[in-house]
Amino acid sequence: MASSTLSILILFSLLVVCSFSNAKRSPPKPKGFIFPIKKNETVNQYYTSIQIGSNSTKLNVVIDISGNFLWFSSDDYFSSASGYLPIPCDSKECNIANGVGCILCEFQPPVPKCITNMCADYALNPYSGTQGYNGLSTDVLHVYSTHGQRYNFKRFPFQYSDTVLRQGLASSTQGVISLGRTRISLQAQLASAFKIREKFALCVPSSGHEGNLIIGNVAYNKPIEEISKSLISTPLIRNPVSTSGNEVIGNLTLAYFINVKSIRVNNKTLSFNNSLLSIDESTGGGGTCLRTVRSYTSLHRSIYRALLNEFVKAAASQGIKRVASVAPFGACFDAKTIASGKIGGPQVPIIDLVMEGKNVFWRFYGSNSMVRVSKNVICLSFEEGSPNLTGPTTSIVVGGYQMENYLLEFDVTSSKLRFSPSLLLSGTSCSQFGAS
Ligand SMILES: *[C@@H]1O[C@H](CO)[C@@H](O)[C@H](O)[C@H]1NC(C)=O
Ligand SMILES: *[C@@H]1O[C@H](CO)[C@@H](O)[C@H](O)[C@H]1NC(C)=O
Ligand SMILES: *[C@@H]1O[C@H](CO)[C@@H](O)[C@H](O)[C@H]1NC(C)=O
Ligand SMILES: *[C@@H]1O[C@H](CO)[C@@H](O)[C@H](O)[C@H]1NC(C)=O
Ligand SMILES: *[C@@H]1O[C@H](CO)[C@@H](O)[C@H](O)[C@H]1NC(C)=O
Ligand SMILES: *[C@@H]1O[C@H](CO)[C@@H](O)[C@H](O)[C@H]1NC(C)=O
Repeated sequence: MASSTLSILILFSLLVVCSFSNAKRSPPKPKGFIFPIKKNETVNQYYTSIQIGSNSTKLNVVIDISGNFLWFSSDDYFSSASGYLPIPCDSKECNIANGVGCILCEFQPPVPKCITNMCADYALNPYSGTQGYNGLSTDVLHVYSTHGQRYNFKRFPFQYSDTVLRQGLASSTQGVISLGRTRISLQAQLASAFKIREKFALCVPSSGHEGNLIIGNVAYNKPIEEISKSLISTPLIRNPVSTSGNEVIGNLTLAYFINVKSIRVNNKTLSFNNSLLSIDESTGGGGTCLRTVRSYTSLHRSIYRALLNEFVKAAASQGIKRVASVAPFGACFDAKTIASGKIGGPQVPIIDLVMEGKNVFWRFYGSNSMVRVSKNVICLSFEEGSPNLTGPTTSIVVGGYQMENYLLEFDVTSSKLRFSPSLLLSGTSCSQFGAS
């Protein structure tokens, strides 16, 4: 009797110990993290929301896949920034951030806490081109795994910026979150802290819808899973010369470039000076990069002219009537003369960006190549790029509108971009993109 009481007692205490250690056990190792994407359709900006600091302040931040680091300003954060921790110069974190110089406390714009010799860098507003020099710091970033579990990233680096730097951002946003090829970008930090692959899948939504950004190597949910098995792959290449003023990482650009070899309209290859498509290794000019912070794809003048001519010709042969252009677009059409397809939007000539290898091309149908500017006018949604007079001019900058409703996997580790055909062709969209 006594011994059975004893064994029950032992069993009971074991249970207590077990449940106690269970309660203390940290959540399982995450495979990936998910961030919702919304679009402000007035200014064509794509943003996500993050939670930062001891009070989990919620911030909307614009997504810049060629940006350096997270920056924002927020009164709500400021008033509860007890976890704000300046990064000192000459620290390991400053080295990872590749900070530019040290800043003295008295020269800093208002920050929650300042120290002398704070690691500093230039934050870039990708719309205005304005840069803000200020100290870098860390605080806890609350992130959600693709399984919905919350994790605390204890020392996530960012710059608390001057509020004026926000000019040009969508009114509901407070800063910019970056996914460029640096060591302090969002995916680089998550990959190194949680030992996941440095890879992100971007599915930007069209107006009125939501998409997702998934960081890590994860299985996708049902409608997308099948599509993701046959993504087309092309190398992500690096421009050896930085294309933006605030990049100083050995002058290598932070942006993602791909090797477009030709452009087709309804299967006909455009003719223009093809050397524009390769990167000039000494000047950094030329080539093709991807930027979420540009509304529409812009093309070097001579490529744009060739596209316009061929597109207008092909459209005319389909009975599509051209009307007066509406800036910034160079070719607009009478909407009544364009059939609207069941899938893929307006029925217009198809545009392909053709890359290295057989069958490696990014194909745009009307939903991504045309934009409605008024009730009766639809325009070709590509723009003529303006030359950069002070730095290298990239020949093709693929903008956000052309990325909408494609699944784009940026595998930074293996330097590969994998992309799907337009999800609309399979009757789905970025609104249905998530993890299983
Ligand atoms: C924390 O956040 C809540 C709700 O967002 C807010 O009411 C409260 O004032 C915040 N606390 C501090 C210290 O800012
Ligand atoms: C989008 O941003 C613009 C410019 O800041 C602003 O006027 C507009 O109200 C924003 N739209 C929404 C829905 O937040
Ligand atoms: C032009 O290039 C310079 C130097 O790289 C850069 O600072 C600047 O932002 C670029 N301007 C534009 C409009 O892209
Ligand atoms: C970086 O660019 C500057 C100006 O274009 C040039 O003088 C310098 O040599 C470059 N540095 C490297 C490491 O390429
Ligand atoms: C497009 O061109 C290729 C060869 O350049 C040809 O094999 C293919 O059949 C053409 N497709 C269409 C739809 O015309
Ligand atoms: C093509 O463009 C390159 C670089 O812009 C230039 O050096 C070359 O002279 C051009 N070739 C022709 C035939 O125009």
